[in-house]
Amino acid sequence: MTEVPPNLSGIKLIVIDNPPVNSLGLEVRRMLTREFASAEEDPAVKAVVLAGAGGKFSAGADIREFTDAKAVSQLYLGEVIDKIESLSKPVVAAVDGVALGGGLELALGCHFRVAGRTARVALPEITLGVLPGAGGTQRLPRAIEFAMAIEMATGGQMIGAGDKRLQGLFDEITEGDPRRAAILFAAKIIADGIGPRRLSEKAIPAEPAEAALQAARERLLPNPVPAMAAVLECLDDAIHRDFRTGLANERTRFGQVVGTPEARALQHAFFAEREVSKVPGITPETPVLPVEAIAVIGAGTMGRGISIAALDAGFAVTLVDVEAAALERALGAIESHYRTMVERKRLSEADADERRKRLTGSVDLSAAAREADLVIEAVFEDLKVKQEVLAKLDAAAGPNTILATNTSTLDVDALAVATSRPGQVVGMHFFSPANIMRLVEVVRGRATSDSTLATALKVVSRLRKVGVVAGVCDGFIGNRMLEEYLRQAYFLLDEGALPHEVDGALERWGMAMGPLRMMDLAGNDIGWAIRKRRKVEQPDRPYSAIPDLICERGRFGQKTGAGFYRYDGRKAIPDPEVDALVAEHSASLGFKRREIDAEEIVQRCIYALVNEGASVLADGIALRASDIDVVYLAGYGFPRYRGGPMHYANEVGLGRVVAAMQRFQQGYQGKFWEPSPLLAELARSGGRFK
Ligand code: CAA
Repeated sequence: MTEVPPNLSGIKLIVIDNPPVNSLGLEVRRMLTREFASAEEDPAVKAVVLAGAGGKFSAGADIREFTDAKAVSQLYLGEVIDKIESLSKPVVAAVDGVALGGGLELALGCHFRVAGRTARVALPEITLGVLPGAGGTQRLPRAIEFAMAIEMATGGQMIGAGDKRLQGLFDEITEGDPRRAAILFAAKIIADGIGPRRLSEKAIPAEPAEAALQAARERLLPNPVPAMAAVLECLDDAIHRDFRTGLANERTRFGQVVGTPEARALQHAFFAEREVSKVPGITPETPVLPVEAIAVIGAGTMGRGISIAALDAGFAVTLVDVEAAALERALGAIESHYRTMVERKRLSEADADERRKRLTGSVDLSAAAREADLVIEAVFEDLKVKQEVLAKLDAAAGPNTILATNTSTLDVDALAVATSRPGQVVGMHFFSPANIMRLVEVVRGRATSDSTLATALKVVSRLRKVGVVAGVCDGFIGNRMLEEYLRQAYFLLDEGALPHEVDGALERWGMAMGPLRMMDLAGNDIGWAIRKRRKVEQPDRPYSAIPDLICERGRFGQKTGAGFYRYDGRKAIPDPEVDALVAEHSASLGFKRREIDAEEIVQRCIYALVNEGASVLADGIALRASDIDVVYLAGYGFPRYRGGPMHYANEVGLGRVVAAMQRFQQGYQGKFWEPSPLLAELARSGGRFK
């Protein structure tokens, strides 16, 4: 779309209009090529203003094209930008909303840049496993300080246009409409007779760029994402090679990384996180109840974390515990959290005060429920206890109030029937620490109404978390799968591995924390209680006795200073006492302990996740495989560059996953390796999880 602004003849306005985010797909690249060529030829045009429609400059390349090398290279964005930069007439970018990735690179190709105060810019390519492939690594360090260019290209974070670290990027920051300001800017440069000013013609002083780059290399390499080394190499080119050579190498390196498994995984994660909000039955018309006041019942670790998350998101919070001492302790802990935030300069005193004012403590459950739009119970994980609490809340709460349970394993339907409003009961399963972990499983019970579900999802998004809808089953998506993962981790100890070997293998593979360190952090007593319950419910599903032996010795994990490791503060130290216990247990099973290599450790733990994930999918507990991936990425420290367990299995090939499982069937506790019917079928037919 192009317009010549009235009264300002000589300025050609070119607008990128490709909703929703003005990504730079082939059609847009064609339009830009056409319109800039016509601007060059038209003697009436003295300057060009480039803007984006709908309040956004551009969110960059069309990521969906990345799976198709031919689509990317057709009218390559870098070449389009080069042509714009080489125009003989001045070009002004009007940066509104966002200029991300290729969008920022496009603005950098323009000769002048005017931005709205609220605009945000970034080079997020690294988060998608690629690098800025349209001149970003060469032009950005010629516009701003080199160290900041490194930070942006290797970190991908969004920066406000007015941030002083971006000095040099914009010629003008406006409080008003950036398009209008850019047109006025263009009129002025025409009047002043100012011609194009090209970043490609600027030189970069080797000092202090070299030192900044060396520090970045030391900090970021080696890196499991190949794009990281590539982007640092391109930044090095920006210092040492001429602009054209740097640009050519950037394009080559982009082509090399765009097809790597890590890039595919990161792009899968990007789309999976957006897909997750598409839920059958929920449309923009589904009524969402207004929620401002939240009551959190239970002042334990979860209750505190949920309260902080809700306060941070602007809700009024009443934290309830019938035990006054427990409540006092929790309020004290929340206060000390905010004090620390202020001390560490992560929060201003005024903001902390504002949050404190929205927090009330209460020992009166009914009074708190009466005032709340949403109640989240986080009391002891026991069906009877939770049913009683929910019944009391139901009796006191107003007719529209939603009752949410933070249960991690219990039957939400059985909890809902304890109330007179099963349609307004929903699971909201937070992950510890609840103010930090991004995941919330939103559990849709048999009776949960669409409006209740939509409201819970809206609250989760206001909490700036990712809500994944799950059906009712023991453990929902995440913990149901985790059970199989942990089972294998424990069996590995039975057979020959030591805790640090199991954790080490999985951590080197990319898990944020190995399973045994994770259980030490979560508290081994919690798993112990669940296993006790399951032993009654499912006596034919054996567990290794090792975690029970650990618990019997009072080794509940970090909180008791000892678990699978001993602890020096938070530091896990392998403990000979545990090694001896593990060896003794193996001997009691009649095992000659064997050396187990990292590959087997990883395959057994990860394929156990995949196999149960397939059952979760087949049972309709998760809506789609990519939702399972989001659960593991956002809640369990699964490496993003592996895309989540289901994506990873697709990458390995489901046939190969099943073949490995068949091998494990011959070994210890082999009966756990029966492939789920869905996985078996997909492997047979050469299919993938969708
Ligand atoms: N390409 C293709 N689709 C994109 C896209 C892109 N660059 N950016 C967003 N979308 C899609 C989303 O998938 C979503 O689609 P659905 O509605 O079908 O789910 C839709 O646009 C809206 O996106 P969001 O839900 O994320 O909307 P938002 O308002 O919350 O956020 C945004 C908008 C900040 C732009 C965010 O979408 C975003 O961060 N996008 C990615 C930006 C990015 O990484 N750009 C770099 C691309 S790589 C590059 O440019 C390489 C290069 O050098 C050539």
